[in-house]
Amino acid sequence: MLLLLPSVPVEGGELRLMRSVLISLQRVQAASITKQESLDLPPGARPALYCSNKCTLRDWCQLWCAYPSNTPTHCLISNITVMPTYQETNMADVLTCHTTRPKDLATHATITAGKQFMSYPLRVKENLLDGFYNYNRDHCFHTKSSNRNRWFTLDFGQPKCFQHVILHAVIYDLAKKRFNNVQVRVSNVTAVTPPEDFAAYDLFGEFHGAASPGQVVEMKSPKPVCARFITGQMLYNNRFQVCHIEVF
Ligand SMILES: *[C@@H]1O[C@H](CO)[C@@H](O)[C@H](O)[C@H]1NC(C)=O
Ligand SMILES: *[C@@H]1O[C@H](CO)[C@@H](O)[C@H](O)[C@H]1NC(C)=O
Repeated sequence: MLLLLPSVPVEGGELRLMRSVLISLQRVQAASITKQESLDLPPGARPALYCSNKCTLRDWCQLWCAYPSNTPTHCLISNITVMPTYQETNMADVLTCHTTRPKDLATHATITAGKQFMSYPLRVKENLLDGFYNYNRDHCFHTKSSNRNRWFTLDFGQPKCFQHVILHAVIYDLAKKRFNNVQVRVSNVTAVTPPEDFAAYDLFGEFHGAASPGQVVEMKSPKPVCARFITGQMLYNNRFQVCHIEVF
């Protein structure tokens, strides 16, 4: 569902596209590393208009929720990353919130990847597909360091078309080692030996050098590209850490 609201008081009636998503209030509030604000809803204010405006006026805002759900008295505004395709499992305090993030293909794709660095058992590859990222490093994927392991592949099941690939580096200074010289490639070929065979895939985008803390790397192709597989591979010799991915 799309919600288009005029972002008053911006002149010229600029529209900002927001998409609704069901998410647990507690899950949003518990994201302690995020930037967030809770605002009182003034008497008589329309929650959707008031909250979406407050979100639009803050460049860091990526999600707003009016709560409690039946008779809202507050707006929660957060920079948490929640995809519109996110599937909430905790329905006890679920709310309809609105996200600035686009509908994408990564959420609910399937993933294969190099071996995970086992000292951090929570940092599994599946974290890249859940449509939720609150900047906590345990929501990232973290590989072992050898060349054989510094990669992941998303499989959409059939060729899908997209123009953007967004990758988030971890928010700490270690981003410079964990996200450094990364290539994104695309292909339809199923029988490959990763990562050696990735060289034969088409290059979609490249990130040179070291990421800054929390850097959001956006790769954009001038025209839509269609492919069943997307791979991300780090060429720098360290452990590869990716915290969130979007494909649209
Ligand atoms: C969200 O806020 C946290 C805490 O201030 C920050 O570290 C992170 O980079 C922010 N992310 C975005 C996408 O604004
Ligand atoms: C994958 O297949 C689709 C449909 O057959 C085609 O349009 C696309 O160009 C192919 N992509 C690559 C990277 O070969």
